[in-house]
Amino acid sequence: MDAIETIKKRKCIRGFLKKPVPKEEIVKLLNIARWAPSSHNMQPWEIAVVTGKTLEKLKNALLNALKNREHRHFDYDYAAKDLPKRLKTNCDTCNQIVFDYRKIDPKNWSELAPHLEENLRFFDAPAELVVMIEKGIGEGALIDIGAFTQSLYLAALDLGLGTCPQVSVSQYANITHSVLNIPENKLILFGIALGYPDESAFLNKMPRMPRIDVNQFTTFLE
Ligand SMILES: Cc1cc2nc3c(=O)[nH]c(=O)nc-3n(C[C@H](O)[C@H](O)[C@H](O)COP(=O)(O)O)c2cc1C
Repeated sequence: MDAIETIKKRKCIRGFLKKPVPKEEIVKLLNIARWAPSSHNMQPWEIAVVTGKTLEKLKNALLNALKNREHRHFDYDYAAKDLPKRLKTNCDTCNQIVFDYRKIDPKNWSELAPHLEENLRFFDAPAELVVMIEKGIGEGALIDIGAFTQSLYLAALDLGLGTCPQVSVSQYANITHSVLNIPENKLILFGIALGYPDESAFLNKMPRMPRIDVNQFTTFLE
């Protein structure tokens, strides 16, 4: 597949076939993604591939946290409460598209809860990749993580796999650390649901998320 076509075609997949992804295929995917650029070739990415019984254990622990209405607990400052207006607008638009499509009133807990549960079940993906870095190595490493994970999403598409980056594992980082025995010196950034896309799944037919125009985020200084 041509790179431009792949970049434009990639979108989040939120419905997966009940078909495991062979370990060799996941290794193949990581083998491609590792060619991403990183500052001084530091390659700060660390990935935990969670499948099988461990995946079930993790999902149950996260779902339990939601059931008990536990406070979200990130390992890092995930997003400012007071985002600049234009960025908040982008986020609000995204949420609105999702809630409209799903016919959910986010203020109604009984409607919102199943949506949150789906996230915490990783949309029933057969694998969840937990993306981490070593604590205290500097925010610059996040640039490298972005390059690595975008490479992974694109390579996955080429291999017939679907991906969805998610905060499920990082929003209850304390639980993820505990269930997966991830040491405290690792910072849990986010997770990636991975599996073979179910093209017929309702959530995979959601309208594509819009993008702002180039002139809204670019300045030409000549
Ligand atoms: C760091 C990160 C966290 C995300 N968290 C979630 C999430 O928790 N649940 C979800 O459904 N999508 C999540 N997304 C997906 C975004 O909503 C999605 O990328 C965005 O709306 C653009 O849509 P597209 O990727 O389908 O083009 C996340 C994406 C990123 C990069």
